[in-house]
Amino acid sequence: MRKKIIIGNWKMNGSVSSLKDFMNEVLPNLSENVEAGIAVPYPILGLLKDLSKGRNFKVSAQNMHFEKSGAFTGEVSSDMLIDLGVDTVIIGHSERRQYYNESDETVNLKLLKALEKNLLAIVCVGENLDERNNSKEKKVCERQILKAFEGVKLEDVHKVVVAYEPIWAIGTGKTASKEDAEEIASHIRNVLAGKYGKEAEKVRIQYGGSVKPSNVKELMEMPNIDGALVGGASLKAEDYIALINFDK
Ligand code: PGA
Repeated sequence: MRKKIIIGNWKMNGSVSSLKDFMNEVLPNLSENVEAGIAVPYPILGLLKDLSKGRNFKVSAQNMHFEKSGAFTGEVSSDMLIDLGVDTVIIGHSERRQYYNESDETVNLKLLKALEKNLLAIVCVGENLDERNNSKEKKVCERQILKAFEGVKLEDVHKVVVAYEPIWAIGTGKTASKEDAEEIASHIRNVLAGKYGKEAEKVRIQYGGSVKPSNVKELMEMPNIDGALVGGASLKAEDYIALINFDK
């Protein structure tokens, strides 16, 4: 049984005070059935670690560099994240791919580094609108998955979470239908099974793209969807609490 994992992605939002208020409301409302956490900007990651101390709450970064250290102005390494107590990292979010030249190759290097350092990695894949309109969504996701997992060992596969996030659904209010989301999630699992056999059954596949309290339940009920990566709706404690308690 794959435990559902719902992670909020705050992107470039939040502050010391908003995070404190958010955690005050959220911590008493965690659910045993769902692994929950948020990915916040670097300056408030340490605070998130402190606020969630002793609780089962994923402390996630939104990105990291694949090199250990060096002359990479503005970047953050895996060791720095671990030093802060971070346990999870988002890799290859479409906004990183779109605005910061993240490629399938850098996603692969980052995933290998995250696994080496025992960080839980959330690898994002997904097609853009043009690709969807030309029925290339499966091909695109397959290419992204195969490159991301290059060199990933069989025994590490279960440690990776994949987030299927169609770009046209991110921040647009347009969610993929549960059937469309399930179709791609199941395709992703098949691609992984082609490479790793039965281990693919252990990989959790999230859906992301305009997930909100009103649509989370139907998405989570699909057989190959094991969680959600949530942007906008994860910023409000009330909505976030509803998301992580979708089954009640
Ligand atoms: P959204 O963002 O929920 O605001 O669409 C999802 C994401 O980018 O992870």
